[in-house]
Amino acid sequence: MHPIASIILAAGVGKRMKSDTLKVLHPVAGLPLLYYPLKLAGSLKTNPIVVVVGKNKKPIEEIVSRLRFKKTQLVVQDPPLGTAHAVMTAMKKLKSFKGDILILNGDLPLMTENSLHQLIRLHRESSASLSLITAVLDDPGDYGRVLHNTSGEILGIIEAKDASVVEKGIREINVGVYLVNSSFLNEQLKDVKNTNQQGEFYLPDLVWMAVERSLTVKTLQLANPLEGEGVNTQSELAEANTLTYRHNIKKLMDEGVRVLMPEQVCVDTPVKVGTGTTLMGPCYLIGSTKIGMNCRLEPGTIIKNSVLGNGVTIKAHSYLEESRVDDQAQIGPFAHLRPEAHIKTEAKVGNFVEIKKSTIGEKSKVNHLTYIGDARIGKEVNVGAGTITCNYDGVKKHPTIIEDQVFVGSDSQLVAPVRIGKGATIGSGSTITKNVPPGSLALTRPSQVVVKNWSRKKK
Ligand code: UD1
Ligand code: CA
Repeated sequence: MHPIASIILAAGVGKRMKSDTLKVLHPVAGLPLLYYPLKLAGSLKTNPIVVVVGKNKKPIEEIVSRLRFKKTQLVVQDPPLGTAHAVMTAMKKLKSFKGDILILNGDLPLMTENSLHQLIRLHRESSASLSLITAVLDDPGDYGRVLHNTSGEILGIIEAKDASVVEKGIREINVGVYLVNSSFLNEQLKDVKNTNQQGEFYLPDLVWMAVERSLTVKTLQLANPLEGEGVNTQSELAEANTLTYRHNIKKLMDEGVRVLMPEQVCVDTPVKVGTGTTLMGPCYLIGSTKIGMNCRLEPGTIIKNSVLGNGVTIKAHSYLEESRVDDQAQIGPFAHLRPEAHIKTEAKVGNFVEIKKSTIGEKSKVNHLTYIGDARIGKEVNVGAGTITCNYDGVKKHPTIIEDQVFVGSDSQLVAPVRIGKGATIGSGSTITKNVPPGSLALTRPSQVVVKNWSRKKK
């Protein structure tokens, strides 16, 4: 097997996006557009992977290192003078490379590994100099059109802006994925001209050049043309998101996740969900979220960068971010877990409860209308309705420690820093400002006064 190197074209400014963000950094199902070609180049074990970037290189450098794509080298193309010029710039890093070079437009999030394998096979079986992927679209829009001779052999690609009315009627388009022999590329690239409507050096011109020299050019037509959809506008970005979500959900269902109303469930690409779990849509699973087996997520749930164990129930309309929920715990309805909330095994967090940077111990219950912040709550604790940890004095945050088997009566305030000892009881309606020793009762409300046979003033 000959080696394959790859080049990813990402230096274009993406004018049609009408956004300050670089095009390839726009998110598709939770990951930047650029992730998708990088992932393909990596899965196919191409080496090196050269990414052509514009003068604003830093944000792309950060993304590549955050996504941990090894074997990736960045090269700056400034100013961007067209796709052939971009490849020429990349070739600086591939001077001594001999073999086939896979070239991917950076804006193709729906392309699959399977199609690339087919392209490689076709290219090698026919000893082609150049092979490319095409798609037949109902609306070929701004894409480059594929021209054939009467016997069906490819002649070249004509960009929509340079095409005649008749040529524009052609529905087979160039997708922006090429496999090119390195020696052909090295010989021909410098001869590409920019005498066209856009004054750019067009990479697809290599097809005309190869045909002229009677070299073999092969095309692979996509069975599923959606794989060839590029992202050039916000509408196309939305479409790419929808299709990627649909793909991610299908994959989860194939792995045994039950999904009701799949069209209303959004699952980011990195998210993992265990078998036997039910997503009762609509729900949104974001970022690095991991969900265990046999969980149940009711409608309206949003979970961001959080980890759930097995058998967890998240009831309707709960919002979880950067949190951890252990096996068999129950959350919601209408609960809010903020960063660093850790709900341990079989604990319960009920409606209108907010938890921030706190641990709720095994089998403890915080069921109603409560705020817990900067607290460590032990096992089998009962936190009554309306309990508030007063963790903030206006300047600093302070901790609240509640040991195992404590009972906090309803409508109590725990003024931090404070510690409630094991098994202690807080009488309902108390404002606790001092530590409470284990096994004791603390009560701060005034005792009740009863005046017998008392009547209100009459109006
Ligand atoms: C390109 C193809 C077109 C094809 C379409 C598929 C050319 C001339 N045309 O058109 O035939 O149908 O893709 O989506 O190639 N880029 C650079 N440097 C540059 C210019 C572009 O790195 O100087 C990058 C862009 O960031 C982008 C990719 O190359 O990722 C394609 O460029 P774009 O401007 O989107 O080309 P299209 O006009 O869509
Ligand atoms: Ca494009």
